[in-house]
Amino acid sequence: MNLPCSIRRWMAAAAGLGALLVPVAGAVYADSSIRPLDHPVWRQECGACHVAYPPQLLPAPSWQAIMSGLDRHFGADARLDSQAQADILRFLELNAGRDETRAGGKPPLRITETRWFIHEHTEELPAGVWKRPDVKSPANCAACHTAADRGDYSERTLHLPKGFSTPSHSKD
Ligand code: HEC
Ligand code: HEC
Repeated sequence: MNLPCSIRRWMAAAAGLGALLVPVAGAVYADSSIRPLDHPVWRQECGACHVAYPPQLLPAPSWQAIMSGLDRHFGADARLDSQAQADILRFLELNAGRDETRAGGKPPLRITETRWFIHEHTEELPAGVWKRPDVKSPANCAACHTAADRGDYSERTLHLPKGFSTPSHSKD
């Protein structure tokens, strides 16, 4: 079985403590362990300025919105030729996560603003971690997920910046 690490950890804790606590699973994308995907054009073009973010972490409408606004992409110009754009969009749609439409009906444009991300990363991380100079932004996945450039977000490759620890990850 390939469970998200938060669930695995709870199971380990429950075994030890007699299950006194009710588990809070990873919410919307609870069943999605991130698998590394490959698509050379996507990896090259969408991994040029930041890691190529896993398609599973946003629903298709989000990728459609992102791909149709590449000329003003979070303050950057990320335009592509039309063939690469169509090719990448198709790949993102095929591998997209489940829909998480917000109250206002607008698809989220950031993984880091999804309920899944906030839940997974608030419970685990001390306040203030995003402001550290060696992290800078929650979108800087590779600050902690040291193999994010290869699409690997497993617990094995997770290393928090020095000076921080969480209940389950000791500092190194
Ligand atoms: C020219 C540089 C550049 C390129 C090329 C680029 N991006 Fe970005 N992207 C950015 C910047 C800058 C941000 C904002 C990062 C931050 O907030 O720290 C961003 C943020 C994002 C985010 C939101 C991250 C989050 O969850 O906060 C997504 C999703 C994203 N990009 C997808 C893509 C995709 C898909 C492509 C390929 C089509 C792409 N980007 C190509 C510069 C780029
Ligand atoms: C400041 C450090 C930090 C940054 C930056 C960060 N993460 Fe994480 N991430 C964590 C921690 C801590 C966990 C909790 C791991 C656990 O549940 O044991 C986590 C969990 C995850 C998981 C779930 C792993 C699992 O198997 O349950 C995924 C997927 C993930 N992060 C993706 C991302 C993505 C994508 C980004 C960038 C948009 C990102 N993270 C940015 C620290 C970080």
